[in-house]
Amino acid sequence: MERTFVMVKPDGVQRCIVGEVVSRFEKKGFKIVGAKLLQVSKELAEEHYEQHKERPFFGELVDFITSSPVFAMVLEGNNVVTSARTMMGATNPKDSAPGTIRGDYAVNIGMNIIHGSDSLESAEREINLWFKNEELTQYDVTV
Ligand code: CMP
Repeated sequence: MERTFVMVKPDGVQRCIVGEVVSRFEKKGFKIVGAKLLQVSKELAEEHYEQHKERPFFGELVDFITSSPVFAMVLEGNNVVTSARTMMGATNPKDSAPGTIRGDYAVNIGMNIIHGSDSLESAEREINLWFKNEELTQYDVTV
């Protein structure tokens, strides 16, 4: 079954939107198979965002992600990589549609509430970077 990595960024945690974000994914039908609140190290932030390291905003991005805790999760379900990205809305909140997470809660490209893996390959890399195998669960929904 497909899995993706999703992180509520420091702005989402500080604005108390974690529950709202989790609720949207749960109601959609995705299964949470791993989740944790953590303070991100500079090393982890730099590795996570390594494809942006030449961008002018890289330092600002790393500073922001390490500034205060994030809520990291692994979601599972059909087409979850693409669907979760659709639910998040465009990266730049000026372009994200109302009804999406960024469309409803963000106005700033730096503080855009949430990150989600952009491909199956990124999802695999990011899940392995953020979670140990024993932090992930496997269960059947029986209710
Ligand atoms: P995210 O999905 O976490 O992936 C990379 C992040 O870089 C992106 O969301 C934005 O929050 C951030 N980002 C992209 N462009 C800019 C920018 N011009 N200034 C600051 N942050 C940016």
